[in-house]
Amino acid sequence: MAGFTTDEELEESTNRWMVWGLVLMAAFVLAFPLYRWVEPSNRAEARETQIASLADQGQGLWSLNCSSCHGLNGEGGVGPALNSQQFLQASSDEQTSLLISVGVPGSQMSAYSLDYGGPFTSEQIKALTTFVRSWEEDAPDRPDWRDVIDG
Ligand code: HEC
Repeated sequence: MAGFTTDEELEESTNRWMVWGLVLMAAFVLAFPLYRWVEPSNRAEARETQIASLADQGQGLWSLNCSSCHGLNGEGGVGPALNSQQFLQASSDEQTSLLISVGVPGSQMSAYSLDYGGPFTSEQIKALTTFVRSWEEDAPDRPDWRDVIDG
């Protein structure tokens, strides 16, 4: 290359590039674990936001469609008290979704999923399930959760 007059200058330049190469490599080596460390917490945050918004949507659906029988806060009425450790611990989200989707034949609990002639999409069923699950942390002990209060 015409720019270099002496071997020394050429060597200096080469060394400079090598140093930059090493710096870059070190940056990548450090960035990778950092990325792996930050990324899951981003994902956890996104998940929490998604759960919160589903629960929000579920709350609206609940108060319009379920509270008349199960109580505004799931405390029970014609239908069982879903806001209870007894129900929430016994029923997984899958089971709860299925119960809401299909209903309980022969009872006042009708099917709510479009697939079973009800009004709700699977997203709405998921929102309801998420809302019901959101009670779990503070749900009271209700060994009588299945007892019908008025009906
Ligand atoms: C007309 C009254 C009524 C309405 C409205 C109603 N339910 Fe029910 N629900 C019941 C009754 C009664 C049962 C108990 C059925 C049985 O097991 O005999 C029940 C049972 C359930 C169960 C199962 C509990 C168990 O036994 O494990 C879930 C979950 C549930 N309802 C969720 C909902 C949701 C969510 C909504 C609103 C989309 C809703 N219900 C609307 C009356 C109602």
